[in-house]
Amino acid sequence: MTRILLENITKIFDGETAAVSDFTLEIPEGCFMVIVGPSGCGKTTTLRLIAGLEQPDSGNIYIGDTLANETAAKNRDVAMVFQNYVLYPHMTAFQNMAFALKMRKFPGKYIKERVRETAKLLGIEDLLRRKPHALSGGQRQRVALGKAIVRKPSAFLLDEPLSNLDAKMRLAMRTELKTLHQKLKTTTVYVTHDQVEAMTLGERVCVMYNGKIMQTGKPMEIYEKPVNRFVAGFFGTPPMNFIDGKVKIDNSKIHFVTHDNTIILPQSLMTCLNGYQGKEMILGIRPENVSQIPYANQEDNTLTAIVEIVEPVGNKTDVYLRNSSGERLILCTIPYTDLRVNQTVKIHIDINKIHIFEPDQTGKNVIFYND
Ligand SMILES: Nc1ncnc2c1ncn2[C@@H]1O[C@H](COP(=O)(O)OP(=O)(O)O)[C@@H](O)[C@H]1O
Ligand SMILES: [Mg+2]
Repeated sequence: MTRILLENITKIFDGETAAVSDFTLEIPEGCFMVIVGPSGCGKTTTLRLIAGLEQPDSGNIYIGDTLANETAAKNRDVAMVFQNYVLYPHMTAFQNMAFALKMRKFPGKYIKERVRETAKLLGIEDLLRRKPHALSGGQRQRVALGKAIVRKPSAFLLDEPLSNLDAKMRLAMRTELKTLHQKLKTTTVYVTHDQVEAMTLGERVCVMYNGKIMQTGKPMEIYEKPVNRFVAGFFGTPPMNFIDGKVKIDNSKIHFVTHDNTIILPQSLMTCLNGYQGKEMILGIRPENVSQIPYANQEDNTLTAIVEIVEPVGNKTDVYLRNSSGERLILCTIPYTDLRVNQTVKIHIDINKIHIFEPDQTGKNVIFYND
Protein backbone atom coordinates (compact mmCIF):
# COMPACT_ATOMS: atom_id res chain seq x y z
CA MET A 1 0.00 0.00 0.00
CA THR A 2 1.24 3.39 -0.85
CA ARG A 3 0.34 7.00 -1.42
CA ILE A 4 0.65 8.45 -4.90
CA LEU A 5 1.15 12.16 -5.47
CA LEU A 6 1.03 13.95 -8.80
CA GLU A 7 2.34 17.48 -8.57
CA ASN A 8 1.77 20.03 -11.35
CA ILE A 9 2.04 17.40 -14.05
CA THR A 10 1.93 18.56 -17.65
CA LYS A 11 2.21 16.26 -20.65
CA ILE A 12 2.22 17.71 -24.14
CA PHE A 13 2.09 15.50 -27.24
CA ASP A 14 3.56 16.67 -30.57
CA GLY A 15 4.41 20.06 -29.09
CA GLU A 16 0.77 21.16 -29.15
CA THR A 17 -1.88 18.99 -27.43
CA ALA A 18 -1.69 19.32 -23.66
CA ALA A 19 -3.16 15.90 -22.84
CA VAL A 20 -2.61 16.61 -19.13
CA SER A 21 -2.20 20.13 -17.87
CA ASP A 22 -0.93 21.33 -14.46
CA PHE A 23 -2.47 18.27 -12.82
CA THR A 24 -2.13 18.01 -9.03
CA LEU A 25 -3.75 15.09 -7.23
CA GLU A 26 -3.00 13.14 -4.08
CA ILE A 27 -4.19 9.54 -3.90
CA PRO A 28 -4.00 8.67 -0.21
CA GLU A 29 -2.69 5.28 0.89
CA GLY A 30 -5.34 2.58 0.44
CA CYS A 31 -7.74 4.90 -1.38
CA PHE A 32 -9.92 3.89 -4.33
CA MET A 33 -9.62 6.98 -6.51
CA VAL A 34 -11.67 7.25 -9.68
CA ILE A 35 -10.57 9.61 -12.44
CA VAL A 36 -13.59 10.32 -14.62
CA GLY A 37 -14.15 12.47 -17.69
CA PRO A 38 -15.22 12.35 -21.32
CA SER A 39 -13.21 10.51 -23.96
CA GLY A 40 -9.98 12.31 -24.85
CA CYS A 41 -9.74 14.33 -21.61
CA GLY A 42 -6.40 12.78 -20.61
CA LYS A 43 -7.32 9.90 -18.30
CA THR A 44 -5.22 7.19 -19.93
CA THR A 45 -2.27 9.55 -20.25
CA THR A 46 -2.48 10.27 -16.51
CA LEU A 47 -2.39 6.53 -15.70
CA ARG A 48 0.49 5.95 -18.12
CA LEU A 49 2.41 8.76 -16.44
CA ILE A 50 1.94 7.09 -13.04
CA ALA A 51 2.96 3.72 -14.51
CA GLY A 52 6.07 5.23 -16.07
CA LEU A 53 4.94 4.47 -19.64
CA GLU A 54 5.03 8.22 -20.41
CA GLN A 55 7.34 10.91 -19.11
CA PRO A 56 5.90 14.24 -17.94
CA ASP A 57 7.14 17.46 -19.58
CA SER A 58 7.03 19.06 -16.15
CA GLY A 59 5.95 18.21 -12.64
CA ASN A 60 6.70 15.46 -10.16
CA ILE A 61 5.30 12.01 -9.52
CA TYR A 62 5.76 10.50 -6.07
CA ILE A 63 5.04 6.85 -5.36
CA GLY A 64 5.27 6.39 -1.63
CA ASP A 65 7.90 8.85 -0.49
CA THR A 66 10.03 8.37 -3.57
CA LEU A 67 10.24 10.84 -6.41
CA ALA A 68 9.52 8.40 -9.21
CA ASN A 69 10.10 10.60 -12.30
CA GLU A 70 13.32 8.78 -13.11
CA THR A 71 12.20 5.31 -11.97
CA ALA A 72 11.77 2.84 -14.84
CA ALA A 73 8.24 1.48 -15.33
CA LYS A 74 9.23 -2.03 -14.28
CA ASN A 75 10.59 -0.76 -10.97
CA ARG A 76 7.57 1.31 -9.97
CA ASP A 77 5.75 -1.58 -8.26
CA VAL A 78 2.40 -0.63 -9.72
CA ALA A 79 0.22 -2.96 -11.81
CA MET A 80 -1.79 -1.61 -14.69
CA VAL A 81 -4.85 -3.31 -16.17
CA PHE A 82 -5.66 -1.98 -19.60
CA GLN A 83 -9.00 -1.43 -21.30
CA ASN A 84 -8.14 -4.09 -23.86
CA TYR A 85 -6.81 -6.55 -21.32
CA VAL A 86 -3.82 -8.40 -22.59
CA LEU A 87 -3.78 -12.15 -22.01
CA TYR A 88 -1.32 -14.43 -23.78
CA PRO A 89 -3.59 -16.52 -26.05
CA HIS A 90 -1.39 -19.64 -26.00
CA MET A 91 -1.20 -19.77 -22.20
CA THR A 92 -3.81 -21.06 -19.75
CA ALA A 93 -5.38 -18.75 -17.18
CA PHE A 94 -2.97 -20.20 -14.63
CA GLN A 95 0.06 -19.55 -16.82
CA ASN A 96 -1.14 -16.04 -17.61
CA MET A 97 -1.47 -15.23 -13.94
CA ALA A 98 1.80 -16.91 -13.03
CA PHE A 99 3.80 -15.22 -15.79
CA ALA A 100 4.96 -12.08 -13.97
CA LEU A 101 5.95 -14.09 -10.88
CA LYS A 102 7.91 -16.54 -13.04
CA MET A 103 9.79 -13.68 -14.69
CA ARG A 104 10.71 -12.47 -11.22
CA LYS A 105 12.02 -15.97 -10.47
CA PHE A 106 9.78 -16.75 -7.50
CA PRO A 107 9.87 -20.42 -6.42
CA GLY A 108 7.34 -22.68 -8.15
CA LYS A 109 5.57 -23.59 -4.92
CA TYR A 110 5.04 -19.95 -3.99
CA ILE A 111 3.73 -19.15 -7.48
CA LYS A 112 1.23 -22.03 -7.32
CA GLU A 113 -0.06 -20.96 -3.93
CA ARG A 114 -0.24 -17.32 -4.90
CA VAL A 115 -2.14 -18.00 -8.15
CA ARG A 116 -4.60 -20.37 -6.38
CA GLU A 117 -5.18 -17.86 -3.61
CA THR A 118 -5.85 -15.08 -6.12
CA ALA A 119 -8.06 -17.32 -8.27
CA LYS A 120 -10.12 -18.10 -5.19
CA LEU A 121 -10.49 -14.42 -4.42
CA LEU A 122 -11.79 -13.84 -7.95
CA GLY A 123 -13.92 -16.99 -8.10
CA ILE A 124 -12.04 -18.47 -11.06
CA GLU A 125 -10.42 -21.55 -9.43
CA ASP A 126 -12.20 -23.83 -11.88
CA LEU A 127 -11.04 -21.94 -14.93
CA LEU A 128 -7.29 -22.03 -14.38
CA ARG A 129 -6.65 -24.67 -17.02
CA ARG A 130 -8.54 -22.88 -19.76
CA LYS A 131 -6.97 -20.73 -22.43
CA PRO A 132 -8.40 -17.25 -23.07
CA HIS A 133 -10.47 -18.31 -26.12
CA ALA A 134 -12.44 -20.66 -23.86
CA LEU A 135 -13.32 -17.91 -21.39
CA SER A 136 -16.18 -15.39 -21.50
CA GLY A 137 -15.48 -11.64 -21.48
CA GLY A 138 -16.10 -11.38 -17.76
CA GLN A 139 -13.90 -14.41 -17.00
CA ARG A 140 -11.08 -13.01 -19.13
CA GLN A 141 -11.32 -9.74 -17.30
CA ARG A 142 -11.05 -11.57 -13.98
CA VAL A 143 -7.90 -13.32 -15.20
CA ALA A 144 -6.49 -9.95 -16.28
CA LEU A 145 -7.21 -8.59 -12.81
CA GLY A 146 -5.68 -11.75 -11.37
CA LYS A 147 -2.46 -11.08 -13.26
CA ALA A 148 -2.26 -7.73 -11.49
CA ILE A 149 -3.29 -9.01 -8.05
CA VAL A 150 -0.86 -11.97 -7.84
CA ARG A 151 2.06 -9.58 -7.92
CA LYS A 152 0.88 -7.83 -4.73
CA PRO A 153 1.80 -4.44 -6.18
CA SER A 154 1.66 -1.34 -4.01
CA ALA A 155 -0.96 0.16 -6.33
CA PHE A 156 -3.41 -0.85 -9.06
CA LEU A 157 -3.91 1.31 -12.11
CA LEU A 158 -7.11 0.29 -13.89
CA ASP A 159 -7.95 1.82 -17.26
CA GLU A 160 -11.67 1.40 -18.07
CA PRO A 161 -11.44 -2.30 -17.14
CA LEU A 162 -15.18 -2.90 -17.50
CA SER A 163 -15.90 -1.06 -20.72
CA ASN A 164 -15.69 -4.14 -22.95
CA LEU A 165 -18.23 -6.08 -20.90
CA ASP A 166 -21.97 -6.18 -21.48
CA ALA A 167 -24.19 -4.15 -19.16
CA LYS A 168 -25.10 -6.98 -16.81
CA MET A 169 -21.54 -8.24 -16.43
CA ARG A 170 -20.30 -4.68 -15.93
CA LEU A 171 -22.66 -4.29 -13.00
CA ALA A 172 -21.60 -7.63 -11.49
CA MET A 173 -17.89 -6.83 -11.85
CA ARG A 174 -18.44 -3.38 -10.39
CA THR A 175 -19.69 -4.80 -7.12
CA GLU A 176 -16.93 -7.43 -7.19
CA LEU A 177 -14.27 -4.77 -7.60
CA LYS A 178 -15.69 -2.96 -4.62
CA THR A 179 -15.62 -6.09 -2.48
CA LEU A 180 -12.13 -6.85 -3.70
CA HIS A 181 -10.90 -3.42 -2.66
CA GLN A 182 -12.51 -3.79 0.75
CA LYS A 183 -10.49 -7.00 1.18
CA LEU A 184 -7.15 -5.95 -0.31
CA LYS A 185 -7.17 -2.21 0.50
CA THR A 186 -4.57 -1.60 -2.16
CA THR A 187 -4.24 1.99 -3.40
CA THR A 188 -6.18 2.07 -6.67
CA VAL A 189 -6.48 4.57 -9.47
CA TYR A 190 -9.48 3.65 -11.60
CA VAL A 191 -10.16 5.45 -14.85
CA THR A 192 -13.58 5.59 -16.51
CA HIS A 193 -15.74 7.80 -18.73
CA ASP A 194 -18.83 6.48 -16.93
CA GLN A 195 -20.17 8.78 -14.22
CA VAL A 196 -22.21 5.99 -12.63
CA GLU A 197 -19.09 3.85 -12.23
CA ALA A 198 -17.31 6.84 -10.75
CA MET A 199 -20.08 7.54 -8.25
CA THR A 200 -20.55 3.93 -7.19
CA LEU A 201 -16.92 2.83 -7.02
CA GLY A 202 -14.97 5.88 -5.96
CA GLU A 203 -14.07 6.67 -2.40
CA ARG A 204 -12.85 9.85 -3.97
CA VAL A 205 -13.56 11.06 -7.48
CA CYS A 206 -11.46 13.35 -9.65
CA VAL A 207 -13.34 14.90 -12.56
CA MET A 208 -11.20 15.75 -15.60
CA TYR A 209 -11.99 17.85 -18.63
CA ASN A 210 -9.58 18.92 -21.37
CA GLY A 211 -6.54 17.69 -19.46
CA LYS A 212 -7.45 19.62 -16.33
CA ILE A 213 -8.97 18.72 -12.99
CA MET A 214 -12.40 20.27 -12.58
CA GLN A 215 -13.18 18.93 -9.11
CA THR A 216 -11.97 16.34 -6.63
CA GLY A 217 -14.08 15.06 -3.76
CA LYS A 218 -16.34 12.39 -2.37
CA PRO A 219 -18.97 11.20 -4.88
CA MET A 220 -21.96 12.78 -3.12
CA GLU A 221 -20.06 16.04 -2.59
CA ILE A 222 -19.54 16.26 -6.34
CA TYR A 223 -23.15 15.36 -7.04
CA GLU A 224 -24.58 17.85 -4.59
CA LYS A 225 -22.07 20.66 -4.93
CA PRO A 226 -20.64 20.59 -8.45
CA VAL A 227 -18.14 23.42 -8.95
CA ASN A 228 -19.34 24.28 -12.42
CA ARG A 229 -21.86 23.53 -15.14
CA PHE A 230 -19.67 20.89 -16.76
CA VAL A 231 -19.47 18.80 -13.57
CA ALA A 232 -23.16 19.42 -12.82
CA GLY A 233 -24.20 18.15 -16.24
CA PHE A 234 -21.75 15.26 -16.31
CA PHE A 235 -23.05 13.60 -13.13
CA GLY A 236 -26.59 12.31 -12.90
CA THR A 237 -28.95 10.39 -15.19
CA PRO A 238 -31.14 11.85 -16.46
CA PRO A 239 -28.95 14.96 -16.33
CA MET A 240 -29.54 18.23 -14.49
CA ASN A 241 -31.94 20.74 -16.06
CA PHE A 242 -30.48 24.08 -17.13
CA ILE A 243 -32.74 27.09 -17.54
CA ASP A 244 -31.61 30.54 -18.76
CA GLY A 245 -32.82 33.59 -16.90
CA LYS A 246 -31.97 36.76 -15.06
CA VAL A 247 -31.33 37.34 -11.38
CA LYS A 248 -33.48 40.23 -10.12
CA ILE A 249 -33.33 41.59 -6.63
CA ASP A 250 -36.02 44.02 -5.47
CA ASN A 251 -37.61 44.72 -2.14
CA SER A 252 -34.93 42.44 -0.78
CA LYS A 253 -36.52 39.51 -2.60
CA ILE A 254 -34.50 37.47 -5.06
CA HIS A 255 -36.18 36.45 -8.28
CA PHE A 256 -35.02 34.31 -11.13
CA VAL A 257 -36.84 35.49 -14.23
CA THR A 258 -37.04 32.96 -17.06
CA HIS A 259 -38.64 33.35 -20.49
CA ASP A 260 -42.10 32.49 -19.14
CA ASN A 261 -41.93 32.40 -15.36
CA THR A 262 -40.58 34.08 -12.27
CA ILE A 263 -39.23 32.00 -9.46
CA ILE A 264 -38.71 33.34 -5.97
CA LEU A 265 -35.42 32.16 -4.55
CA PRO A 266 -34.65 31.62 -0.86
CA GLN A 267 -33.52 34.63 1.13
CA SER A 268 -30.51 32.64 2.29
CA LEU A 269 -28.98 33.02 -1.18
CA MET A 270 -28.79 36.82 -0.87
CA THR A 271 -25.09 36.81 0.02
CA CYS A 272 -24.03 34.74 -2.94
CA LEU A 273 -26.40 36.30 -5.48
CA ASN A 274 -26.10 39.94 -4.40
CA GLY A 275 -23.44 40.67 -6.98
CA TYR A 276 -25.45 39.18 -9.84
CA GLN A 277 -28.42 41.58 -9.83
CA GLY A 278 -29.65 42.02 -13.42
CA LYS A 279 -27.24 39.43 -14.79
CA GLU A 280 -28.06 36.64 -17.21
CA MET A 281 -27.39 33.38 -15.36
CA ILE A 282 -28.29 29.70 -15.66
CA LEU A 283 -30.44 27.94 -13.09
CA GLY A 284 -29.70 24.25 -12.56
CA ILE A 285 -32.13 21.80 -10.97
CA ARG A 286 -31.93 18.01 -10.95
CA PRO A 287 -34.89 16.01 -12.34
CA GLU A 288 -35.55 14.52 -8.91
CA ASN A 289 -36.02 18.01 -7.48
CA VAL A 290 -38.79 18.88 -9.91
CA SER A 291 -42.36 17.82 -9.15
CA GLN A 292 -45.98 18.09 -10.28
CA ILE A 293 -46.89 18.72 -6.66
CA PRO A 294 -45.87 21.96 -4.90
CA TYR A 295 -43.09 21.65 -2.34
CA ALA A 296 -44.01 22.32 1.28
CA ASN A 297 -43.40 25.78 2.71
CA GLN A 298 -42.36 27.24 -0.60
CA GLU A 299 -43.85 30.23 -2.33
CA ASP A 300 -45.31 29.60 -5.75
CA ASN A 301 -42.47 28.71 -8.10
CA THR A 302 -43.67 26.99 -11.19
CA LEU A 303 -42.33 26.47 -14.68
CA THR A 304 -44.63 26.03 -17.63
CA ALA A 305 -43.73 23.38 -20.19
CA ILE A 306 -45.16 20.90 -22.67
CA VAL A 307 -44.74 17.15 -22.25
CA GLU A 308 -42.72 15.65 -25.13
CA ILE A 309 -41.81 12.15 -23.99
CA VAL A 310 -42.98 9.94 -21.13
CA GLU A 311 -40.44 7.26 -20.34
CA PRO A 312 -41.45 4.59 -17.79
CA VAL A 313 -38.33 3.13 -16.14
CA GLY A 314 -40.12 0.80 -13.73
CA ASN A 315 -39.52 2.25 -10.28
CA LYS A 316 -40.11 5.79 -11.65
CA THR A 317 -41.05 7.66 -14.82
CA ASP A 318 -38.79 10.17 -16.56
CA VAL A 319 -40.82 12.87 -18.27
CA TYR A 320 -39.18 15.05 -20.91
CA LEU A 321 -40.72 18.48 -21.36
CA ARG A 322 -39.93 21.61 -23.36
CA ASN A 323 -40.61 25.22 -22.40
CA SER A 324 -41.53 28.07 -24.75
CA SER A 325 -37.90 29.09 -25.25
CA GLY A 326 -37.06 25.59 -26.42
CA GLU A 327 -35.21 24.45 -23.30
CA ARG A 328 -35.59 20.82 -22.31
CA LEU A 329 -36.74 19.98 -18.80
CA ILE A 330 -36.72 16.53 -17.27
CA LEU A 331 -38.88 15.49 -14.36
CA CYS A 332 -38.61 12.23 -12.41
CA THR A 333 -41.99 11.16 -11.16
CA ILE A 334 -44.04 8.20 -9.94
CA PRO A 335 -44.29 4.94 -11.97
CA TYR A 336 -47.89 5.45 -13.16
CA THR A 337 -47.97 9.11 -14.06
CA ASP A 338 -51.04 10.75 -15.56
CA LEU A 339 -48.90 13.08 -17.67
CA ARG A 340 -49.59 12.77 -21.40
CA VAL A 341 -47.66 13.86 -24.50
CA ASN A 342 -48.49 17.41 -25.70
CA GLN A 343 -50.08 18.31 -22.38
CA THR A 344 -49.12 21.75 -21.00
CA VAL A 345 -48.16 21.47 -17.35
CA LYS A 346 -47.02 23.63 -14.51
CA ILE A 347 -44.18 21.98 -12.67
CA HIS A 348 -42.70 22.94 -9.35
CA ILE A 349 -39.04 23.12 -8.50
CA ASP A 350 -37.57 22.67 -5.05
CA ILE A 351 -35.86 26.03 -4.60
CA ASN A 352 -33.75 24.64 -1.78
CA LYS A 353 -32.03 22.39 -4.30
CA ILE A 354 -31.18 24.88 -7.03
CA HIS A 355 -27.81 25.76 -8.49
CA ILE A 356 -27.00 29.05 -10.21
CA PHE A 357 -24.21 29.03 -12.80
CA GLU A 358 -22.37 31.83 -14.53
CA PRO A 359 -23.22 31.83 -18.24
CA ASP A 360 -19.64 31.68 -19.55
CA GLN A 361 -17.92 28.52 -20.71
CA THR A 362 -16.66 27.57 -17.26
CA GLY A 363 -20.07 28.15 -15.71
CA LYS A 364 -19.00 28.56 -12.08
CA ASN A 365 -21.61 27.45 -9.53
CA VAL A 366 -22.07 30.70 -7.58
CA ILE A 367 -24.30 29.16 -4.93
CA PHE A 368 -21.51 27.05 -3.44
CA TYR A 369 -18.39 28.66 -4.83
CA ASN A 370 -18.91 32.38 -4.55
CA ASP A 371 -15.59 33.76 -3.37
N1 LIG B 1 0.82 9.06 -27.98
C1 LIG B 1 0.08 10.12 -28.29
N2 LIG B 1 0.44 10.98 -29.26
C2 LIG B 1 -0.29 12.08 -29.53
N3 LIG B 1 -1.41 12.42 -28.90
C3 LIG B 1 -1.84 11.61 -27.92
C4 LIG B 1 -1.12 10.41 -27.56
N4 LIG B 1 -1.79 9.81 -26.53
C5 LIG B 1 -2.87 10.58 -26.29
N5 LIG B 1 -2.90 11.66 -27.11
C6 LIG B 1 -3.92 12.74 -27.09
O1 LIG B 1 -4.01 13.23 -25.78
C7 LIG B 1 -5.37 13.47 -25.41
C8 LIG B 1 -5.75 12.64 -24.20
O2 LIG B 1 -5.77 11.27 -24.54
P1 LIG B 1 -6.09 10.11 -23.52
O3 LIG B 1 -5.22 10.28 -22.32
O4 LIG B 1 -5.99 8.83 -24.24
O5 LIG B 1 -7.60 10.44 -23.14
P2 LIG B 1 -8.72 9.52 -22.44
O6 LIG B 1 -8.05 8.30 -21.89
O7 LIG B 1 -9.32 10.40 -21.40
O8 LIG B 1 -9.71 9.20 -23.51
C9 LIG B 1 -6.20 13.18 -26.66
O9 LIG B 1 -6.40 14.37 -27.35
C10 LIG B 1 -5.31 12.23 -27.43
O10 LIG B 1 -5.56 12.31 -28.81
MG1 LIG C 1 -8.48 6.26 -22.30
